[in-house]
Amino acid sequence: MNELLLKINQAADYISSNIPCTPDIAIILGSGLGPLADEIENPIVLSYENIPHFVQSTVKGHDGKLVFGQLSGKNVIAMKGRFHYYEGHDMSITTLPTRVFAKMGIKNIMVTNAAGGINDDFNPGDLMLIKDHITLFCPSPLRGPNLEEFGARFPDMSDIYNKYLRIMANNAAERLNIDLKEGVYSFFNGPQYESKADIIALKTLGADATGMSTVPEVIVAKHCGMNVLGLSLITNKAAGLSNEKLSHSEVVAIAKVAESKLITLAKEIVKDWN
Ligand code: HPA
Repeated sequence: MNELLLKINQAADYISSNIPCTPDIAIILGSGLGPLADEIENPIVLSYENIPHFVQSTVKGHDGKLVFGQLSGKNVIAMKGRFHYYEGHDMSITTLPTRVFAKMGIKNIMVTNAAGGINDDFNPGDLMLIKDHITLFCPSPLRGPNLEEFGARFPDMSDIYNKYLRIMANNAAERLNIDLKEGVYSFFNGPQYESKADIIALKTLGADATGMSTVPEVIVAKHCGMNVLGLSLITNKAAGLSNEKLSHSEVVAIAKVAESKLITLAKEIVKDWN
């Protein structure tokens, strides 16, 4: 059997045998956004160190726990801490949990991240619904033998972030009186932040926000046929767009200040998600 498929199967079997049912929605939590998982009721917590082939997160603000339980009446499973390409993992490991969720039969995924704002209208603390992403700087996680049981060799990526889920998210934000921006997210390898010239280039290409995650997992989720919703928490203006120097501690600090808004919105979205 393909080595990656073997890993996916082993991880999926372990998780499925430790939870009572197939979750309705998988949630990936970005830097500093782990507290959303603390809202999950009747939690069953699995440590990454016990899940076959899951790796330990090396990043502050990423815990290394998978939490199953109920959120707004839905069965969810949330990654408190994700794997990043910049930590040195192959793309196949970076995206392993997403394929594992698909293997478990999960049809829906909500991906969150902390991001730098490129759009002039975006300020630290804003929330952005991802309407599309720029893949150009992201090595494809689908490179290598195609895993036929998940999806096609050349999957369509023209409608990645489900239109109906975006309408649902906008409606939820309106009900809660939350100003939800909408825009294009661009992947940057990291771990260094972008240069000023990178940001000018990304802006010219149509990016509204930039970050070091999400795109790999979302490509894989789309390949697997999952319904995808993406939310960015803008933690800073991107390099060169303000006088502030960029730092991870600042990113985590702003995420902490704005997380309650994201948690409230995410819970409302999950409530409506069918
Ligand atoms: N760039 C890349 N990743 C980020 C940023 C940024 O400005 N802010 C939070 N994550």
